[in-house]
Amino acid sequence: MEYQHTPVLLKEVLAILQPHKGQRFIDATLGSGGYTMALAKAVGPTGLIVSFDLDPLAITNAHHQLSQKNINNVLLINDNFANLSQDLKERGIDSQFNGLVLDLGLSSAQLADTDRGFSFTQDGPLDMAFGPGSPYLTSEIVNHWTESELRRIIRDYGEEPWAGPLAKAIAKYRRRQPITRTQELVAIVEQVLPPSYVARSRHHPATKLFQALRIATNQELENLDSVLNQSLSLLCPHGRIVAVTFHSLEDRLVKHFFLRESKDCLCPPEFPVCRCGHHAQLKIVYRHPLKASEAEKAGNPRARSAKLRAASKL
Ligand SMILES: C[S@@+](CC[C@H](N)C(=O)[O-])C[C@H]1O[C@@H](n2cnc3c(N)ncnc32)[C@H](O)[C@@H]1O
Repeated sequence: MEYQHTPVLLKEVLAILQPHKGQRFIDATLGSGGYTMALAKAVGPTGLIVSFDLDPLAITNAHHQLSQKNINNVLLINDNFANLSQDLKERGIDSQFNGLVLDLGLSSAQLADTDRGFSFTQDGPLDMAFGPGSPYLTSEIVNHWTESELRRIIRDYGEEPWAGPLAKAIAKYRRRQPITRTQELVAIVEQVLPPSYVARSRHHPATKLFQALRIATNQELENLDSVLNQSLSLLCPHGRIVAVTFHSLEDRLVKHFFLRESKDCLCPPEFPVCRCGHHAQLKIVYRHPLKASEAEKAGNPRARSAKLRAASKL
C-alpha cells in the first residue's frame, strides 16, 4: 500500500525556490517524494532533480511513482546527503544548481513502520536508523555507550533536564538484561520522570529521550553541518538553499550557518582590521523563520514544529 503523506510547507518551499523549466535542483531528503515530484513537474523534461535518501524504501517508492507518472528528469541516489558532492562528482554532474532543499528528520512512513523503532507510542525493536548507511543502531547506543555518554546525548540532543537520572536508570536496567524494545525505554522514562514534570509537559514523556537517541544514531547534526557547507559550492549565483527543521538544535545550526556565511568578516569586534579574510557567500532571505499556517498545522501534526529558513547564494 502506498503511504499517504502531505509534504510540510510545500507551497512556501516552491515560492522560495521558484523552479522554472530547464533548471536543476537537489532534494537532499526525498522521503515520500512530495518536494521531488513538485520540482520535477516545474522544471520539465529539460531540467534535472537529484534526490537523496538514506532509506532504500524511499528510493524504491520514488522509482515506482516516477515510472507510474512517466517522469524522467529525476536522478535518485540512495546515500547520506553528507556525501552529496562526492556522489555528484562520481556521476560527472557539475556543481551549478538553482537550489537545494532539506526537509529534515524522519518521514511519516518511517514513523509509522513499527519495525523501525522510531515511535514511542508503539512497541518495536530499537533501530531508529534512517537506512543501512547509518553508523549505529539505537540498541548499540543504549546497551554499550557509557552512562556519561548517555547523559551527554540525552542532555545535549534531547535537551532533557532529567538526563542524569535517565542515563543512570538505563545503565542499571541493562545490567540485568539488554534493552531491545522501545517500550522498555518508555517504561524506564515513566519510572524516572516525576509525575509533576510529566503533567507540565505538552509532549509524551519519552519525546526528548527518543529525539536524543535518533539524533545520535544517525549523527544528524554532523550530517546537517556537512551538507550546509557543501551547498556553498553547489549553488549557482542567486541559487537558493531552503531548510525545514523540526527541533531547536537543527534550527540553531541552520541559523548560525546562514548568519556566518552572510558576513564578510568573522574577526572579534575588537580587531581593528580584518585578519580572517572571510567573505560572505550567502544572503539571508528571511530574518525570522517561516512557520506553517494554522490551517496546515490543523491538518498535519508534523507541521506544528516546522521552521523554514532560506538563503540565497551571492
Ligand atoms: C521528512 S522526510 C522528507 C519528506 C519529503 N520532503 C517529502 O516531501 O516527502 C526526511 C527524509 O530524509 C531522509 N534523511 C534523513 N537524514 C538523511 C541523510 N543524512 N541523508 C539522506 N537522507 C536522509 C530520511 O530517511 C527521510 O526519508
